[in-house]
Amino acid sequence: MSFKIFVTKYIAQFKAMNPKYDVIYEVSKENPVRFEDAANLKLSFACMADTHLPNRESAEKNLGNFFEDLSNSEVPFDAALMAGDIADYGFKSEYKRFFRALDKQQVIKNMLVTIGNHDARAIYKRNTNIVMKKVEQYLGIDTKGKSYYSYDIKGYTFIVIATEKRVLEKAHITPEQIAFLDRELARGTKDGKPVFVMCHQPFAETHGLPEVWKTGDMGEQNDEVRAVMEKYKNVFFINGHLHGGVFEKTLEVLNEQQNVVSLSIPGYRKPNNFGFTDAGVGYYGEAYSDRIVFTARNFLTGTPVTGDYTRFEFKFI
Ligand SMILES: [Fe+2]
Repeated sequence: MSFKIFVTKYIAQFKAMNPKYDVIYEVSKENPVRFEDAANLKLSFACMADTHLPNRESAEKNLGNFFEDLSNSEVPFDAALMAGDIADYGFKSEYKRFFRALDKQQVIKNMLVTIGNHDARAIYKRNTNIVMKKVEQYLGIDTKGKSYYSYDIKGYTFIVIATEKRVLEKAHITPEQIAFLDRELARGTKDGKPVFVMCHQPFAETHGLPEVWKTGDMGEQNDEVRAVMEKYKNVFFINGHLHGGVFEKTLEVLNEQQNVVSLSIPGYRKPNNFGFTDAGVGYYGEAYSDRIVFTARNFLTGTPVTGDYTRFEFKFI
């Protein structure tokens, strides 16, 4: 056993003794998701990030709450996005629990998952393979051994980009992947439709970076990837990693003229760092022909989240 594995196992065991990780939440049925204009809704999707699943039954049960809450919605959701950091330590047992919850759920047909740095930092290849195999199984696509992919849902394109090598925190995005992103953005936006991009890591100098986390940005290819996104109109970038909570920096307009926007999804399993810090909070998107609305929600308890920064609306240009 390497020293690093020994240390992470020791920390895991120590944390496991902490009773707060064994709290099991119940999903309320009193206030299910209600879309603002269900009759004209074109597309809906729920976003979560940073499940950091430990090998604990309570965590697996709490992950199931996300789907239980979505199943209470009168109008079914079209998709769900999980923006990376699936496992806490990158152990096989953690993926087993995560994907058991996803296999079991029957409410979301289109499940889009990606890897985060916690998945990629220790055993990159094995963990990426575990995740991408499931992506292929859930979506019925061939990802050709890559960690990135795109998928169309009801005529809207979702592009998922991710690190291509072992990293501690940041991402490594090859020129091939940047070209893929460019191509898919061009294809997805060609008829004036919005496109949704997901990556675990956000861009530098967004969402309070670097103050909130000195090394929390995408990394070396940050500027190149951002420039490609800003070439197109109505691009909505979903990311995680920061555990920021619902606060003044949760949403960042990257390019006003092009309507390119970044949304930092709070961490699901643990309390977050700023503003409204509750665990279990994510956002759901409702796309209409002329606009998109993002609304915060606690999927862990099945309750709406109200207050500042809990609803964002963008008209398409
Ligand atoms: Fe992360």
